[in-house]
Amino acid sequence: MPKAFNLLVITIFEFAFVGGAAAADAVHGKDIATRWCTSCHLVESGQTNATDQAPPFAYLAKTPDFDQNRLAFLLLMPHPNMPNLSLNRTEISDLAEYIRSLK
Ligand code: HEC
Repeated sequence: MPKAFNLLVITIFEFAFVGGAAAADAVHGKDIATRWCTSCHLVESGQTNATDQAPPFAYLAKTPDFDQNRLAFLLLMPHPNMPNLSLNRTEISDLAEYIRSLK
């Protein structure tokens, strides 16, 4: 019973968080980027405070074949200086959509 309850809570949380978005949503992606990535990456033009070790998102956008699969793959690789962020599929595809829009 407690397990089923946990699952229910998680499911509701995910729905609330993702907002039921079906197609990749660059606006939501930007939201995630400004919340979770700005402390290290330049996520938009005009931003000035970021570390110089992390590649700017505009640079990522220009790497060949950049898409959500590539982003998911890059996020799976261990980055010694990057915290382990657990993003779900929707969040990753929204982020990828946003990053692609910076091209
Ligand atoms: C605490 C700092 C920090 C935060 C926060 C952070 N990153 Fe990074 N990220 C880095 C650094 C530093 C690198 C460069 C690789 C390395 O040396 O670890 C990097 C590299 C990357 C790369 C490139 C990997 C490659 O090999 O080309 C991607 C993609 C990336 N980050 C995405 C993100 C996304 C998306 C977020 C937000 C959800 C994020 N990062 C948040 C520090 C951070």
